Amino acid sequence: MTFSPNDYLNGLVSWDDNEFSVGVQELDAQHKVIVQCINKLYLAIESDSECQQLPSLFETLIEYTGYHFETEQRYFHHLSKHEQLLHHLHHKHFLEEISMLHVNRENTRVTAIELLFLLTDWLISHILEEDKQLVQAELE
Ligand SMILES: [Fe+2]
Repeated sequence: MTFSPNDYLNGLVSWDDNEFSVGVQELDAQHKVIVQCINKLYLAIESDSECQQLPSLFETLIEYTGYHFETEQRYFHHLSKHEQLLHHLHHKHFLEEISMLHVNRENTRVTAIELLFLLTDWLISHILEEDKQLVQAELE
């Protein structure tokens, strides 16, 4: 994924350290990339009715999210086996949802909007709830 550090940090979602930072630099940097993807997708929907950029956005997102989840799994060691399995299943489920949207897409614009909803919704539950809890538990 190649974004300049300050590109696309504002838009539909604006990166705000106070709101999004989980206190781990590596994870924050990767979450920023996800915010950049969301804003890029939003701009593509607004400005390009054919959403020509959608296929490549899908591919980058699936690839990047997989990479991000692998990184997060390194932060799971303090969790019980049961909690690790739950996190792993959440991740797997989300990746399957994006992949299914990708495979079943019919109308590009509708799919782009669905992807945008899925992502923003996930961003909020993933970063603001799950990851903050994950990091908090490690600090305790
Ligand atoms: Fe995350």
